[in-house]
Amino acid sequence: MTRVFSGIQPTGHLTLGNYLGAMRRWAAADQHQADALFCVVDLHALTMDHDPARVRRLSRQAATLLLASGLDPELCTLFVQSHVDEHARLSYLLECVATDGEMRRMIQYKEKAAKEAARGRSVRVSLLTYPVLMAADILAYGTDDVPVGEDQAQHVELARDLAVRFNQRYGHTFTVPRATLPQVAARVMNLQEPTRKMGKSDESGLGVVYLLDEPDVVRKKVMRAVTDSGREVVYDREERPGLANLLEILAACTGGNPEALSGVYESYGALKKDTAEAVVEVLRPVQERHRDLCADPGQVEGVLRDGAEKARTIARPTVDAAYRAIGLLPAASDTGAAVGAGTETGAGTDTAVVLNTAR
Ligand code: TYM
Repeated sequence: MTRVFSGIQPTGHLTLGNYLGAMRRWAAADQHQADALFCVVDLHALTMDHDPARVRRLSRQAATLLLASGLDPELCTLFVQSHVDEHARLSYLLECVATDGEMRRMIQYKEKAAKEAARGRSVRVSLLTYPVLMAADILAYGTDDVPVGEDQAQHVELARDLAVRFNQRYGHTFTVPRATLPQVAARVMNLQEPTRKMGKSDESGLGVVYLLDEPDVVRKKVMRAVTDSGREVVYDREERPGLANLLEILAACTGGNPEALSGVYESYGALKKDTAEAVVEVLRPVQERHRDLCADPGQVEGVLRDGAEKARTIARPTVDAAYRAIGLLPAASDTGAAVGAGTETGAGTDTAVVLNTAR
């Protein structure tokens, strides 16, 4: 069965971009079609200046919203990254495979590091190495498919490169994953600045629809969306990014096609109105379930506890195999220790034997 893994960072309130680009597919398709794991990746929330209490609060909220968006613990595994040690354990090994140049080429690193520098803040090493931790998240589970929005495609590509390199150097250990992107709304843009991604850490929030925004707030934000000059409603991502963004949001919410929808509207106002209502309707059931789940926090905690247990069981053998393959001496109590005590010659053969015993 296909293994799916994806994650979401508790660095801010979840947005319509997160929902249309990733979460919605996890609930509607992935959890039904694959052996799927979804993770609140809290370690990733420590790479920039952060408030510990806020990270805790947002982690709980993200897990609650994932359940509210339709993830079913009977069908998939939902857990918090820091509850499973294997992520950090594997990340270090992958740091020994990744290169400094590779890390510095990551678009998100360049953007975020520049932002931190502009604010006079120092850049944390973890911001640079964060894609390696993300690769560890993915590779620890033998993941085939990683359903993400477009902004994460480069990071998944790195995970692929690291898997291939590790396998070539130390023997086959990791499944090589691939990113899967949605057909529409792979990159939902900020409503005020349609050339910029709609992100959770946006300061003003005016151009960002949050999943828990009240219907009237959603309407206001969509009606005030910046559109391009011109009158005709056309779908052109390059020349008319504001309009294209609204058409994509509407298409994603109604199951339509942005190009076809552009022919339906004669005015920007009518398009905005329908888009606002479509977003309100998509968010309504999520908000209702969120309200119910908040009334019973024990339920969410139970799901996360069971999820972490299941996740550990899956990740442990692969991460152990990677430790052996790369040349680390197993502790005496580990299975395979006796075999692992082989000679220095024929490392490839030794590795193969140890891998087999560890499974
Ligand atoms: P994060 O938390 O920024 O976003 C979670 C998911 O939402 C998608 N997304 C969007 N899709 C379309 N339009 C947008 N405006 C938009 N904003 C966000 C993201 O592409 C993502 O799929 N590094 C990851 C979290 C992560 C992860 C992983 C993902 C850590 N480890 C392992 C997959 C596998 C991140 O920051 O996502």
